[in-house]
Amino acid sequence: MILRVSPPSWKWQKVVSNYKNTPSHSSMKLEQAIAKIKKQAENELSSVGLAKDIEVLKVKYLGKKGLVGDLMPLLKTATPEERPVFGKLINDLKLFLTSCFNNILNDLSLKERNVQLENEAIDVTLPGRRSSFGRKHVTLRLLEEATEILRGMGFTVQYGPEIESEYYNYDALNFPKDHPAKDMQDTFYITTDTLLRTHTSNTQVRVMETSRPPIRIIAPGVCFRNEDVSARSHVTFHQVEGLYIDKNVTFTDLIGTLKNFFKRLFCRDLKMRFRPSYFPFVEPGMEVDIHCIVCEGKGCSVCKQTGWLEVSGAGMVHPEVLRSGGVDPEEYTGYAWGFGIERLAMLQYGIKDIRQFFENRVGFLSQF
Ligand code: DAH
Repeated sequence: MILRVSPPSWKWQKVVSNYKNTPSHSSMKLEQAIAKIKKQAENELSSVGLAKDIEVLKVKYLGKKGLVGDLMPLLKTATPEERPVFGKLINDLKLFLTSCFNNILNDLSLKERNVQLENEAIDVTLPGRRSSFGRKHVTLRLLEEATEILRGMGFTVQYGPEIESEYYNYDALNFPKDHPAKDMQDTFYITTDTLLRTHTSNTQVRVMETSRPPIRIIAPGVCFRNEDVSARSHVTFHQVEGLYIDKNVTFTDLIGTLKNFFKRLFCRDLKMRFRPSYFPFVEPGMEVDIHCIVCEGKGCSVCKQTGWLEVSGAGMVHPEVLRSGGVDPEEYTGYAWGFGIERLAMLQYGIKDIRQFFENRVGFLSQF
């Protein structure tokens, strides 16, 4: 940027013309030095573009060890008659430069400020940016929904550990020592007898050990299985375990509770079907199916054209399991169930691939 340097009151000509006699040699040198500094300053000032550069020039010329200050020793070499004349000349140069620096500094600062304001200008007429809200993950939402319904039915919530001993995950639940589920294929072992729980049923005996019947709990949480990840199975998933132990708990109580729960969860009257099945920790054991909520039982890809969806395992607590928990099977009976949350979500929303729950794609998650 080129700047116009306009000295406010430069008295050079006037001072020199006041100087009557022929100048001495040293005074000529001084005169030249003053003129040179002035010229040099003007040149430098004319090409300065930033306010901060002016500060640098200020120090260069007017600072303690600046160029103008350097003229002082030369003044001593002038004759006594010339000295006041040149003293004034140096002083005028100082005033001149000070005023130039300040004027240009003001100009530049103003320009820089204007540029900054222009760059930072906000167009208040532009529409605001909407902030997007986060939401609960669909798994958590369904888990909370299920929990709320069951709490309303008199169940309290208990949490079992995710890192579990082989005892609570298997042995206490009446799994035979050589049961195939204990195989390394299905279970993530941490040490020989510590593992990542494969189901929330691990909570059953723990609860029996710490509380006396009547026991009416649910145990929601994450489980792990050493399975190949595919559209239908994953190494991580969530379950909700249910356990009710009291005097005279019957199979009919279990069926009534499950019917009531699924009716409330899916907000409709559902046809249900109970198929005998084997789980070591219940006797009798069963698998619970509901009429397909996608096709209303007509047959579709979700129910694999059967019209039925498998939603839970359940049964009457095995006497051996009651014994493991210190509960007398002669006095008490109980029922238990366990269902997978992702599976229910898949049924409810027609999701075909369980992996989507864990990939955390916003496009998928923001639908719920
Ligand atoms: N723990 C079983 C599983 O993960 C599910 C289950 C079946 C739980 C029957 C129960 C039950 O409490 O009674 O496959």
